[in-house]
Amino acid sequence: MNTSLLDACWGKPVERLPVWFMRQAGRCLPEYRALREKHGMFDIFRAPELAAEVTMQPVRRLGVDAAILFSDIVVPLAAVGIEIDLQPGPVLARPFRSAADLARLRPLEPEADMPYVLDTVRLLAGELDVPVIGFAGAPFTLASYLVEGGSSKTLGRTKAVMHADPAFWAELLDRLAGIVVASLRAQVAAGARAVQVFDSWAGFLSPADYRRSVLPATRKIFAGLADLGVPRIHFGVGTGELLELLAEAGADVVGVDWRVPLDRARARLGDHVAVQGNLDPAVCLAPWEVVAREATGVLEANGGRPGHIFNLGWGVLPETDPDILRRLVDFVHGD
Ligand code: CP3
Repeated sequence: MNTSLLDACWGKPVERLPVWFMRQAGRCLPEYRALREKHGMFDIFRAPELAAEVTMQPVRRLGVDAAILFSDIVVPLAAVGIEIDLQPGPVLARPFRSAADLARLRPLEPEADMPYVLDTVRLLAGELDVPVIGFAGAPFTLASYLVEGGSSKTLGRTKAVMHADPAFWAELLDRLAGIVVASLRAQVAAGARAVQVFDSWAGFLSPADYRRSVLPATRKIFAGLADLGVPRIHFGVGTGELLELLAEAGADVVGVDWRVPLDRARARLGDHVAVQGNLDPAVCLAPWEVVAREATGVLEANGGRPGHIFNLGWGVLPETDPDILRRLVDFVHGD
């Protein structure tokens, strides 16, 4: 088993720097697109053989040091009965607007409600010689989809509810945290060796609002995973001013987007947490020489300190040439 990802998460020295890419499964791979012509998103999520195949495609083609489960952050919500579709972004039939809607958000029983996710993890854990990363959306990002009913450029409705009805908001995030803990604990029991919590839209919040209205729920998640002994990664976009709070929630690794140089992130976070990132995904659309130069910049900003997992600052863009990603993996490995 290649454990470089796990070692780096715990701040241990590694022979080869671990590298994987957020959203490495699907998106830019022709073999995934071919499969998508025949199957819908949820059809793939609910068919363990297919989901495992899509998860393994980037491991084979790119040579990355970890696999990330092929699923979506909305899958546990659909699994408790929320009517939600991917078109391709999440779209809800009936958005959440008031306390009455909470009745629709019951606790998740992972083995009964989403056995296909856990079967996929079990298949992967049995086949791969790199760790499988389990994942979930964080309560704020999940709540944003529930309240907006889909994607939003401002998260205006979400923040309005957060400010106007703090009791409803707290209960909503607390229930979502319960769903996330149940989902991640089950993924780890099925064989996931690390977990990542995606709070993709947390960067919409001020530090004060994050601390007051979101941190209690994210703390609950990381505390609810503490006894499992697997590294817990916490990531959000545009979170330069929130990095300390993402760590304070209880993460072992903080994902850093491309806007914050890693040396600055490290200075803010201290030595007790590892960092993951943070090449701008758009750089991978440029010629190889540019990619190599910018990747070198990321490596230099970290300065060879242990506790670094190389990644992009956000997900792979769909138009990325997979050959560039392959070269990038070899480059980071020093091959
Ligand atoms: O590496 C991977 O791609 C693994 C699987 C994965 C998916 N979604 C499958 C997917 C992961 C890790 C996610 C996480 C996810 N989903 C996040 C957090 C990460 C991030 O990008 O910030 C968020 C915010 C979502 C919600 C979501 N799902 C959106 C906004 C969209 C539409 C646009 C997009 O990102 O592609 C989806 C659909 C989705 N989820 C696709 C995939 C492969 C594209 C659907 C398609 O193939 O048509």
